Amino acid sequence: MTTPQHFLHHAELFQTSTDQLFAGLYAESAHWAASQHGNYHASYHAEAQSDALAAIHHLSSQLAKPLQHYTQLIAEAKQRALETRTRAHAPFSNFLVGATLIAEDESLFIGCNVECSSYGLTICAERTALVSGVAQGKKRYAGVVVAADTDELTPPCGACRQLLYDFAPDSVVVLVNLRGTEKRFTMKELLPEAFSVTFLQK
Ligand code: THU
Repeated sequence: MTTPQHFLHHAELFQTSTDQLFAGLYAESAHWAASQHGNYHASYHAEAQSDALAAIHHLSSQLAKPLQHYTQLIAEAKQRALETRTRAHAPFSNFLVGATLIAEDESLFIGCNVECSSYGLTICAERTALVSGVAQGKKRYAGVVVAADTDELTPPCGACRQLLYDFAPDSVVVLVNLRGTEKRFTMKELLPEAFSVTFLQK
């Protein structure tokens, strides 16, 4: 499970840049991870947690917007992913998925899976959200939310990870279900050693 320090490290990398949204989402995710330690980090030392909270507090005070702003943004993205999930067209699998992408200007793009009678043409929720956002001119994303009705939270499939990586390599990925269970990752954790556009420029 990802520790607060892991997200903090990323937040610090973005802190001084113009990418305040990225810093904010990482700082908020560090805060979230610290608040989860009782559930997920049985061996996570109390001292490490108070160090993390102090670092998060310090970092937050330097962000352009309060941490709560990012908490609300993620809450809205989660709610919209859950709502969009109910519009999934999944008559073959009955597996409904919703997704929200948070673009770099904080606008949100939603998607659901759309299945096809020719099964292989099915499009996942993450990709419908992404193509919608790109069609509306957004090419850089700071956050991805995936909502499904599974106890073990549903992560993006391999194909979606690659497509998301092209537009959201530095994003925070939030997985949720209908019962309020949540897990967070960085995109780079979900697709380590990723292929990307940088290889094509060599
Ligand atoms: N699916 C998604 O939409 N996103 C995921 O992250 C996993 C899988 C969809 C594709 C298909 O319609 C159904 O779930 C079952 O694979």
